[in-house]
Amino acid sequence: MDPQNTRLTQGLTIWFTGLPSSGKSTIARALERQLKKWGLRSELLDGDVVRTHLSRDLGFSKEDRDANIKRIGFVCQLLSRNGVAAIVSAVSPYRESRDANRSRIGNFIEVYVKASSEACAKRDVKGLYEKAKRGEIKNFTGVDDPYEEPLNPEVICDTERETPEESLAKVVAKLEALGYLQF
Ligand code: ADX
Repeated sequence: MDPQNTRLTQGLTIWFTGLPSSGKSTIARALERQLKKWGLRSELLDGDVVRTHLSRDLGFSKEDRDANIKRIGFVCQLLSRNGVAAIVSAVSPYRESRDANRSRIGNFIEVYVKASSEACAKRDVKGLYEKAKRGEIKNFTGVDDPYEEPLNPEVICDTERETPEESLAKVVAKLEALGYLQF
């Protein structure tokens, strides 16, 4: 793969969804780094960062999560139609709001970052599963709030069985197979 010749043929949105601590941000960040190394225009919208800027007013009820996902989708739509690879890392637990973004944006790749809630709770990157189990956080996805798995994601990254490098390679291969990336 020659970085000089690597091309993004059109803008798109690459949407990473999955339980907290499933590994979304790790793969999303790796993808952004890789695209930048190839000199391609990309922007990462990470759930935590979005919530400190664009969605500071929102909590974690279904309505608020849906509003959050809609806002992120709106930004992605603007970026995508201007030739940028917009990368999202957000729990985005509801199928309907992910699918609504897919319809609105068009060039949309859904990556399901899959790991059991037991495995995610064991990793507990931010210590929130522990808090949720103690009842200190309510409506925590994977503990006492639902997560609706994607039915037809373009990519599944099984982070209990793959390394982050393998997951990244799968996403890149899909982008190439669908004609978004040319080498
Ligand atoms: S989403 O549901 O609206 O897509 P988002 O990805 O923005 O969620 O934020 C999830 C992050 O917020 C988690 O990684 C976690 O750090 C934090 N968080 C705090 N409370 C909750 C909760 N009740 N459920 C899920 N994540 C929560």
